[in-house]
Amino acid sequence: MNLLKSSPQSTRKCKVAVIGAGASGIATAKCLVEDGHEPTVFESSDQVGGVWVFENTSGRAFSTVHFQHSKYVSVFSDYPMSMESSEFPHHTEVLQYLNDYVDHFDIRKHIKFNTAVDKVCRKDDYWEVTVRIGDGQSTFKFDAVAVCSGIYNDARLPNFPGEEKFQGMIMHSKDYKEPSIFAGKNVLIVGNGPSGVDIAVTASYSSNKAIWSYRKNRWLLPRYCERIPFDFIVTRLNKHIPFRHQILSLVHIKKFYPIMLDHQACGVKPNVGPEKSGPVFNEDALNRIRLGAIKTKPNIAHFEENKVVFEDGSSELVDIVVYATGYQVNIPFMNEYLGEDHQKNLNLYKMVFPPELPNFGFIGFVYGNVIFPTSELQARWFSKVISGEVDLPSKAAMEEQIQAHRKHQEEGWLDSAYRSLRVSAFDYMDDIAKEINALPKVWENWTILKEIFAGPMMATQFRLNGPHKWEGATSWIKKVPKLVRK
Ligand SMILES: Cc1cc2nc3c(=O)[nH]c(=O)nc-3n(C[C@H](O)[C@H](O)[C@H](O)COP(=O)(O)OP(=O)(O)OC[C@H]3O[C@@H](n4cnc5c(N)ncnc54)[C@H](O)[C@@H]3O)c2cc1C
Ligand SMILES: NC(=O)c1ccc[n+]([C@@H]2O[C@H](COP(=O)([O-])OP(=O)(O)OC[C@H]3O[C@@H](n4cnc5c(N)ncnc54)[C@H](OP(=O)(O)O)[C@@H]3O)[C@@H](O)[C@H]2O)c1
Repeated sequence: MNLLKSSPQSTRKCKVAVIGAGASGIATAKCLVEDGHEPTVFESSDQVGGVWVFENTSGRAFSTVHFQHSKYVSVFSDYPMSMESSEFPHHTEVLQYLNDYVDHFDIRKHIKFNTAVDKVCRKDDYWEVTVRIGDGQSTFKFDAVAVCSGIYNDARLPNFPGEEKFQGMIMHSKDYKEPSIFAGKNVLIVGNGPSGVDIAVTASYSSNKAIWSYRKNRWLLPRYCERIPFDFIVTRLNKHIPFRHQILSLVHIKKFYPIMLDHQACGVKPNVGPEKSGPVFNEDALNRIRLGAIKTKPNIAHFEENKVVFEDGSSELVDIVVYATGYQVNIPFMNEYLGEDHQKNLNLYKMVFPPELPNFGFIGFVYGNVIFPTSELQARWFSKVISGEVDLPSKAAMEEQIQAHRKHQEEGWLDSAYRSLRVSAFDYMDDIAKEINALPKVWENWTILKEIFAGPMMATQFRLNGPHKWEGATSWIKKVPKLVRK
């Protein structure tokens, strides 16, 4: 049992190094402060926000990026996004939200900007963290370390035959910002993750020709379904219906069936359900394919000087190739512990704790679309573990869980480079909330049972009970369904 211990002796206050001031790092710092710990956040760039910064080394946002899920389910549990922001906020609104969060909870004073962590090393009973500021290096001692450096630091680049002969331009989506570069060009986009989908749609408006190559069809769902954010149909109630990941009820069949027919009409219907491949939310992609504005192609076979040949033998003249082929985890300051292949060697108990490293956690090392509340729950758990209020199981038990989770991932998700980082976000959050006793309690929240079971899976549900409850939680949970259905 990992319920919070009641004895005050079990509460240890720690000096904690938090590495990174993206969404995960600022949430971690806030949760640590709440529990009386002393965080120091090291951020290599000059501002908070990580991938959501547009123009800086950590920034991965491009001009058309909006949240994949609605602002109600995408944000931190005790700090809703402003009423003025759109329901699927633009990246500029997301960055503003992160800055507002930092100021609201007075976190900025804990952050050391332009300070990159170079090395993390275990000494007798403490962690030594070496940082670089300009040309100088300094070393500090900490009781605990939270790695929040993100999973989108290094581009994953494919290696197709003949690439060296190609005379056009090749870039990765990491370096793509806005579509003016496509004007008058034949553009090939590779990959159908959210970046590939978004860039293919944009290129279909702004280029001479948009060609889109990918390996397997994926569900392309609209963000809205009958004027309601799509994520409002993922409820706690659904979780208790068998085969919930398939088409769940008459309501769902009614909503999902026309979308399935659209995929069929465009010739892009996946042969597995959205639960296995993960859908991508985009309103325009199917229409643009159907209009012929995007030409879909299978994977690349090889490059020639000015054209690309695909696996079905067809070819296209191409000026620009955008590899939207994702990222690979790289945590250079952990080389000593993670060896050559960081992603493969990241074996974490419930995706947070490496069994062999004491007082050490990884926050935000999951692939998905509601990362803010996921990271926040991980951070709340991490904070309680280092303070001694919540115990971890034995090393052997943690390793067993890791193996079981790997198997679950392999059975549950299609093979992909990021499968080892996959979780089913809402099940996962419930699981972590249980660790800190923050699951909503039916008997204490009977006035909002309908919203808890049949409403959207907002993380605010994890502020009704348990440590650091939020006074506004009940009224916010009541209010949101009315707001979206008005
Ligand atoms: C284009 C794009 C769109 C996305 N859209 C969504 C979405 O719609 N919904 C959603 O939930 N998620 C989305 N995500 C996922 C996104 O990554 C998470 O939402 C979240 O922002 C991750 O935050 P993070 O703090 O874990 O990582 P990051 O945002 O990557 O932040 C890591 C921080 O650590 C710093 N850092 C790295 N190394 C060091 C070091 N050695 N020393 C000091 N500092 C260091 C970096 O500078 C950076 O500021 C998107 C990701 C991308 C790339
Ligand atoms: N809010 C938004 O709208 C938005 C926009 C952009 C990005 N994002 C987020 O940013 C993160 C990264 O997304 P992403 O789209 O950049 O990356 P991604 O989700 O990892 O997708 C990468 C794509 O590239 C393909 N691919 C990888 N290696 C390949 C290879 N060697 N040859 C051919 N294809 C290859 C993958 O195919 P397989 O599936 O077959 O492996 C996949 O389709 C995600 O969290 C995403 O949600 C969000």
